[in-house]
Amino acid sequence: MSDSKIIVALDYPATDAAIALADQLDPDRCKLKIGKELFTRSGPKTVELLVQQGFDVFLDLKYHDIPTTVAKACAAATDLGVWMMNVHTLGGAAMMRAARDAIGNASDRPLLIGVTLLTSMDQQTFDQIGLQGTISDTVLRLAKLADSSGLDGVVCSAQEASRLRVQHDDAFQLITPGIRPANSEQGDQHRTMTPSEALVAGSNYLVIGRPITAAKDPMLALQEIENSLTS
Ligand code: C5P
Repeated sequence: MSDSKIIVALDYPATDAAIALADQLDPDRCKLKIGKELFTRSGPKTVELLVQQGFDVFLDLKYHDIPTTVAKACAAATDLGVWMMNVHTLGGAAMMRAARDAIGNASDRPLLIGVTLLTSMDQQTFDQIGLQGTISDTVLRLAKLADSSGLDGVVCSAQEASRLRVQHDDAFQLITPGIRPANSEQGDQHRTMTPSEALVAGSNYLVIGRPITAAKDPMLALQEIENSLTS
């Protein structure tokens, strides 16, 4: 397994483009994230192919269903050989515990991560669905529930990382998207942090998409991000 903290988001509609990008990347220097679009188009074959090529794969399908169904999906993802997968914490403690039980205790078992509230959720949407309180307190509460249900960590914005780091011990993994190297395009991301700022805030892994996938030379973009982490 690579010790890279960088997870490249393979946000492509088709297998060919995703594989072409992966071919330019080194599995010792980054991990890969496969989300709903690529998985729905190209299925587990792409996951297996990238795992065979030596990549640590984060399967980002955010499972949220009754405990038995989520447990079976997590067992299936474990069989694919993924390094990390995630579930929605809003599915509740029983669902998260069932997911954790399903992935087993082998030393190379996948990491199981919780999604708290999607960063696309604003206060109006939060109120509309009947949740009480503030978004940030709810994120903290759901992260605590994920921890006590046996999950290995949560996906969070880098802005939330420092408060979560105080609440949880070092073993609890914080996975942060919304990362932008200094002087790069923000795109549709708001409230971004640079890779080094996010690590200082307590993030364990940085999910980075377009700054690498849209670069002319993805490996050079990755190299520049690595350099920014050591300088
Ligand atoms: O291209 P970019 O670096 O913005 O990609 C970020 C990746 O992280 C995308 O795959 C996006 O769906 C995902 N993500 C996010 N914000 C979240 C959760 C996931 O940007 N809160």
